[in-house]
Amino acid sequence: MRNKIVAGNWKMNCDLPMTQDLISKIKRELPGTLDCELMIAPSHPFLYAAFNGSLDTPIEVVAQNVSQHEKGAYTGEVSIDMLQSVGVKSVIIGHSERRDEFHETDHDLAAKTKAAIDKGMRVIFCCGEHLEQRQGGSHFTTVTAQIEKGLFHLSNKELKQVVLAYEPVWAIGTGETASPQQAQEMHAHLRSFIADKYGDKVAQQLSILYGGSVKPDNAVEIFAQPDVDGGLVGGASLDASSFIAIAKSF
Ligand code: PGA
Repeated sequence: MRNKIVAGNWKMNCDLPMTQDLISKIKRELPGTLDCELMIAPSHPFLYAAFNGSLDTPIEVVAQNVSQHEKGAYTGEVSIDMLQSVGVKSVIIGHSERRDEFHETDHDLAAKTKAAIDKGMRVIFCCGEHLEQRQGGSHFTTVTAQIEKGLFHLSNKELKQVVLAYEPVWAIGTGETASPQQAQEMHAHLRSFIADKYGDKVAQQLSILYGGSVKPDNAVEIFAQPDVDGGLVGGASLDASSFIAIAKSF
């Protein structure tokens, strides 16, 4: 059985009062039991407050980014040790906004992933194609190349600390969602790509999340696909009721 996960990527949207308020609302909406892991990714300055606010709940607080460097003269960066010192155990790496807006390369992402894994973190590694690539039919090769360059330096054991998130860039924040069939087709393709390199057992244990305009009204159908193990949710995770409704969609 693979872990089912719903992770809320809050991006650069919440200051401290909003972070605290959203966590309180999520806690109020939490059902007695959930069939998935629940993660939230607030901005760096509020991770500690979020961690403290989520103690004694099933909510895991994760970071949206991390430096590949251990420490030192890297103005503006946040290290893995720093994240761990405020209770963070998982980090999103390779979001398309990091790749596109901040020019993070496959090489950077491979280094970040390895550094985080070496320190015992779990990595939610994002991949996904742009619209032109999908329209031109190169979506499979685009995404597998991202995975090959970002992850294939990891050992079998290290890959167990990875969760994949397939996020077609054309579906992020656009209201447009990959159809459940498109999501399933890509997830199955990625799982078999992982199986070719790491073996079937590792591939079958790997959670692959879908991201891109996941909402309460499409989550059930997307999560019902056999190779979709949950979602990385942006916009809809900023509303506690929507976020919890998505988490109840398994
Ligand atoms: P969205 O964002 O749900 O707002 O499309 C998803 C993401 O970027 O992780």
